[in-house]
Amino acid sequence: MNSRLPAILVTGGAGYVGSHTLVELLAAGYDVVCVDNFSNSSPEALRRVERIAGRAVRRVDGDIRDRSLLDLAFAAAPIEAVIHFAALKAVGESVLRPLDYYDNNVGGTICLLHACRRAGVKRFVFSSSATVYGIPQKLPLTEDMPLAPLNPYGATKLVNELLLRDLCASDPAMSVASLRYFNPIGAHPSGLIGEDPRDIPNNLFPFITQVAIGKRERLSVFGSDWPTRDGTGVRDYIHVVDLALGHVTALRYCARSTGFVPINLGTGRGTSVLELVKAFEEATARPVPYQIVGRRSGDIAECYADAGLALRLLQWRATRDVKEMCADGWRWQQGNPSGYS
Ligand code: NAD
Ligand code: WQD
Repeated sequence: MNSRLPAILVTGGAGYVGSHTLVELLAAGYDVVCVDNFSNSSPEALRRVERIAGRAVRRVDGDIRDRSLLDLAFAAAPIEAVIHFAALKAVGESVLRPLDYYDNNVGGTICLLHACRRAGVKRFVFSSSATVYGIPQKLPLTEDMPLAPLNPYGATKLVNELLLRDLCASDPAMSVASLRYFNPIGAHPSGLIGEDPRDIPNNLFPFITQVAIGKRERLSVFGSDWPTRDGTGVRDYIHVVDLALGHVTALRYCARSTGFVPINLGTGRGTSVLELVKAFEEATARPVPYQIVGRRSGDIAECYADAGLALRLLQWRATRDVKEMCADGWRWQQGNPSGYS
């Protein structure tokens, strides 16, 4: 850690997207300070990040709702900006535990923003989500489309966006990029870091890799009667490394601009469940047995991004295709059948 280089404070840096972003921040020459309570991750992920990057990650282990812990983190290095990943993210769980989701995701963000104010830090990159759009009225989704989240998780993301927008309106020196991720999948090509769901995966791709490695018997495809080209759900899958690189460009953008801007981070292309299964089998030569079952409640038929604003503002676009996402995700799963544990 070179204490003279400006540093980035990364909350939730041990998580799936955060760990991949730490790798790219270190590669880009930033120093990083990671605050994580490991509620949905492992310190092993940070050790792997250091192994890939060949550089140290300064750790301040704990909860972003702990005021003194945050002040310690901001004092650990000359922080020039924050990337805020720390959140609970399971849609179904958020329906059962809304208070925990608002406390963690909104309460945590408020604590973090107070700490930013105490430290005089005014550049902020926020992990938002395409779930803020709810049911798309038109596709592809552009950032100016209506925001109507369907679940408490998506609502916490929207509330945080509204808070950040209001903060920028009250302080013209603030700069916030709210990155609306679509469906990140895959893993770093080294196979050393990747997605490590705690229980039965809620999301499609980690379920596929667990079927492929024999941990799950078969994939349940949630509905084949959707109004899509093959009847199964269509999503905008984006390689997690492309997503991580998007954060580096967003930091540079925040350094030369002020105000609040929401930005879609997606590929602009939709892939159906069965198309992803086929791509995975072709990329890995591993069969993925599946059965068609009923629709999952709260699901939508189709969702994919218009990624034009990211290209215009950040000069960023996703470059890795679905096959590469599958191959890289499988390499991680094969090398880590039980994740980081
Ligand atoms: P993740 O659960 O792997 O990572 C989140 C990290 O934050 C974990 O390491 C967890 O321990 C930490 N954390 C949570 N609450 C904390 C708290 N109060 N204090 C300190 N640390 C805390 O999730 P992810 O997939 O890496 O997602 C990162 C961000 O991106 C989240 O904000 C999520 O909502 C958002 N997002 C994710 C997806 C996706 O599909 N993965 C899609 C859209 C948006
Ligand atoms: C993708 C498609 C399912 C699992 C969620 C969150 C979103 C974001 C990304 C945080 C859908 C189908 C899935 C399975 C299946 N996370 N599917 N069998 O629902 O688009 O988005 O993760 O921000 O907020 O909502 O992703 O991977 O759960 O589902 O058929 O076992 O795969 O119906 O069509 P989703 P997903």
